[in-house]
Amino acid sequence: MKRKLSLVLVVTMVLSLALTGCGGNQPQAPAAPAAPEEIKIGSVFPVTGAIATFGQSSLNGTQLAFEEINNAGGVLGGRKLVLINEDNQSKTEETATAFQKLITQDEVSAILGSVASSHSLAGAPIAQAAGIPMLSPTSTNPRVTEVGDFIFRACFIDPFQGQVMAKFALETLGVTTAAMLVEQDSDYSKGLAAYFKKAFEAGGGTIVAEEGYKSTDTDFSAILTRVKAANPAVVFVPAYYGTVGPILRQAQAAEIDAVFLGGDGWDSDKLFELAGDAANGGFFSNHYSPDAGTPEVEAFLAAYQAKFNAVPDALAALAYDAAYMLAQAIEEAGSVEGVAIRDALAAINFTGVSGSVTFDENRNPVKSAVIIEIRDGKQVYKATVNP
Ligand code: PHE
Repeated sequence: MKRKLSLVLVVTMVLSLALTGCGGNQPQAPAAPAAPEEIKIGSVFPVTGAIATFGQSSLNGTQLAFEEINNAGGVLGGRKLVLINEDNQSKTEETATAFQKLITQDEVSAILGSVASSHSLAGAPIAQAAGIPMLSPTSTNPRVTEVGDFIFRACFIDPFQGQVMAKFALETLGVTTAAMLVEQDSDYSKGLAAYFKKAFEAGGGTIVAEEGYKSTDTDFSAILTRVKAANPAVVFVPAYYGTVGPILRQAQAAEIDAVFLGGDGWDSDKLFELAGDAANGGFFSNHYSPDAGTPEVEAFLAAYQAKFNAVPDALAALAYDAAYMLAQAIEEAGSVEGVAIRDALAAINFTGVSGSVTFDENRNPVKSAVIIEIRDGKQVYKATVNP
């Protein structure tokens, strides 16, 4: 397949040389063969603001994948992938602007991103309307891909993630009472809380307290006082590290005697900085663990470590997978047209670091989750949960 494509490329180049060569009567110096046209891919990853570690990891993973793909000859017979990242500053409003800019100004062929579900929900209608395929590596709210047939994701969705943590509480921890802290301006938090509640109650558990807060809040003492009074065995905190950190610290100060549980939004080294030892003893669900030990994970760890001198988190792994998946779709589409890429993505059979992907009718992959325990300020792999 690759060889055939490069043959086509050589023939095209020879032909175009021949054509330009016999244009005029003046003797002309032979033109240098034009390099194959680059393929522009956009991304909307927040490298500043409240969830900056998510964006930086996603950007790292994508850059590593594009570098490897380009070094191995690119796609479509030698065309290189060029990444244009727009930083949405961790803001929903900026996300729409970023999508618009990438599509109308940069004329990208596809968009990777965004990270947070609220951000992807703001960008998806713009990509859909323009017929530009969008592949979010990490947005887990089900509504994201429901926006339309150009919208895909590389991760499992929150009904599964909520069920994983509810079952873990009921069956592994053996508890029957839970409290939930829900971020009112986050589609991710509200969705994941609702799915946890549904599965926890279906399994015989009781939600004894449900408290809301805003993503800009920093003082959680009032809601934590009410949680303490309800005396839950576990407290579910589906949020991002920037709010989870202070919540855990303040819960420890309030002497709440419960196990704290969360979702993928806990996955940041910054969590340990913000929470200190209050994070210890907590558990959260995630997409991948660097301790998985598969050949794909080992190779990825080595390459990422060599380039960034860090252990890749789940965001880096999913972005790396999403970038490879998009490249495979472009290769299989044989084109950079939106409709062709969309159709190739819909039919894809892909294996990456975070598992294998085929899409269901809502463009969601079905993938396993891992449960991570926080021990001595470190993430420790606890279990894998299959769908
Ligand atoms: N799943 C989160 C969301 O949809 C984003 C996220 C993924 C955060 C993975 C951390 C790790 O908003």
